Amino acid sequence: MSNQPIGVFDSGLGGLTAVKQLRAIMPHENIVYFGDTGRVPYGNRSTHTIARYAGQDANFLLSHDVKMVIAACGTVSSTVRDLSEKLPVPYTGVVLPTAAAAVKATVNGRIGVIGTTATITSSAYKTEIERIDCNIEVFQQDCPLFVPLVENGFISPDDQIAKLTVERYLKVLKDKQVDTIILGCTHYPLLKQVIGEYVGMEVKLIDSGKETAIYASKLLKEKGLLNTSEKEGECRFFVSDRTDDFSKVASIFLHSNIGDDVQRVDIQNY
Ligand code: DGL
Repeated sequence: MSNQPIGVFDSGLGGLTAVKQLRAIMPHENIVYFGDTGRVPYGNRSTHTIARYAGQDANFLLSHDVKMVIAACGTVSSTVRDLSEKLPVPYTGVVLPTAAAAVKATVNGRIGVIGTTATITSSAYKTEIERIDCNIEVFQQDCPLFVPLVENGFISPDDQIAKLTVERYLKVLKDKQVDTIILGCTHYPLLKQVIGEYVGMEVKLIDSGKETAIYASKLLKEKGLLNTSEKEGECRFFVSDRTDDFSKVASIFLHSNIGDDVQRVDIQNY
């Protein structure tokens, strides 16, 4: 057993989709979250830059003595494939658990993958799906405007800008009659309602944050690292830019007021 925290990072708010699930599945775990809000979005940057950012984000979490690192970021998980080798603690990204869940979910063997430009260019989800089942057809679409929409809180199903943007990007997948769509960026579940209403509620939307949280809990159990305390776990939040914007959207999303619990970090120092 270990009461050390689980470390979770993302370029911004998106990784909270994993935190929300981690808290639901493992309410006694302590969590340290880092959102690199000063450098978001990662998805249109070079692999070299994303790798450097990811290394600093993981180092920051390690400075908090975490027992595991979760890259709750599709972009990092797809493009920085050697992060686990550099870390002294267990690590997971989002690609493997999410691809496996999508393969289980599809009935017609047609899966759509949406993500940032870096994620889609890497074809990491497609490669993993085809490795599991080479008969599945995979259709990919990058959605570069989704991350800024979420970071700015344009996530309501009534928001006209969100609705039009979703329609613009997802028409091509709808036309391909996919029955399952991987939300391959952890920001996208915040747009789940808008996306679901456009593609049709019968299309299964696979939440990368959720699948990764489930996988992480299995991994911690396997390694005997679960916190067996009966106390509710504590969550600490860190960002690399203004704390007020983050706490506003994060509080709405997590259904709890995280107001003063957000601290700013100078991530360049890690
Ligand atoms: N949540 C990140 C992801 O999963 C967003 C990446 C970005 O900042 O562009 O890809």
